[in-house]
Amino acid sequence: MDNNRYDSHRPRKRVSRKTLRRRQLTALAVIAFLVLLFVLLVAHACSDGGKKDGGKKNNSVTTITTAATTTDPAITTTAVTTTATLTDPVNKSDFKLDKYSVFLEVGESDMPRVQAYPDGTEEADERWSSGDPTIASVDNIGNITGVKPGTCYVTLRSASDPEQEVMIKVTVRGDSTDDTASPQSNTAEAPEPPVYDTEGLTYIEGVLIVNKTYGLPATFSPGLEPICYQQFQAMSGAAAKEGLSLYIGSGFRSYHDQELIYDNYVKEDGADMADTYSARPGFSEHQTGLVIDCNTIDDAFGATPEAAWLAEHAHEYGFIIRYPQGKEDITGYQYEPWHIRYVGSKLATKLYKSGQCLEEYLKVDSNYD
Ligand code: DAL
Ligand code: ZN
Repeated sequence: MDNNRYDSHRPRKRVSRKTLRRRQLTALAVIAFLVLLFVLLVAHACSDGGKKDGGKKNNSVTTITTAATTTDPAITTTAVTTTATLTDPVNKSDFKLDKYSVFLEVGESDMPRVQAYPDGTEEADERWSSGDPTIASVDNIGNITGVKPGTCYVTLRSASDPEQEVMIKVTVRGDSTDDTASPQSNTAEAPEPPVYDTEGLTYIEGVLIVNKTYGLPATFSPGLEPICYQQFQAMSGAAAKEGLSLYIGSGFRSYHDQELIYDNYVKEDGADMADTYSARPGFSEHQTGLVIDCNTIDDAFGATPEAAWLAEHAHEYGFIIRYPQGKEDITGYQYEPWHIRYVGSKLATKLYKSGQCLEEYLKVDSNYD
């Protein structure tokens, strides 16, 4: 039936001015209510998004909470979206600082103040470290001093909850074109990593090997090796030129950090499963200071353009994908497209071209017991 035509034949009902006014007011009230509802819904959606990024233990990398599969324990809380620039200071921990960027002259000092601590942590738990002490040093209360022109990150981590970590971008002003400045491109060969002169480390053919067979002393704690960090910066800079975002998801981890992480996984998944993706304390390559986990530590990373780029270019900057696909029985670990180990570009290129993993190249096993 054609309702319009039917309606057009109905006599129009007359309404008084007062009724009209009342209807207008009602319509306005309904519109105001709908607008308010919309605003509330948007605000709610935003706060949910924040929580999703957070994951377990207040904003740690989300994959820590996910079921057993291939998660790598991430200490850091540095997940950023791909729209963030590489140089953004990153804080998804519960630390609140009064500043996340520091600009210094050489010899000048500045100290970010901690305004809030993560639950259960306190001032005594602060652990400060510099990603590149040749550019900026930091003391144990967070006093940062410019050493030479350049940019690096200073990290504050909680000793009692190492998943809580915040990075402060430090720019030391001046001409950084001298020979010792951080490499910004891969035109030069990535040098071999330094050989640590510490008892209890195993070097085979000059390469520090850490796996399920070869461990590290609990006291060995070098921090993130500057050349590893610098080469990572150079690499992420090159990736950024192609519109890709590579950032540090997890870097150096002490024996104690790894102990917390591994124990946590054992509680969640049992030791047998945890051993397929998480190293026992004293057996993690992260303790060497020569390892970086890129971006989100999650299987989904393997499907990103960043992972594809990394697989093709990491060797140019001296890194290998340490736990490749198809080599699980040899490395002892599930495939981890995000976990890169610095070995220098000579060896990295050799492994990239041969398709061998480090255990195959060095002819060693990776087994506990
Ligand atoms: N995910 C690697 C194996 C580690 O825990 O060091
Ligand atoms: Zn890793």
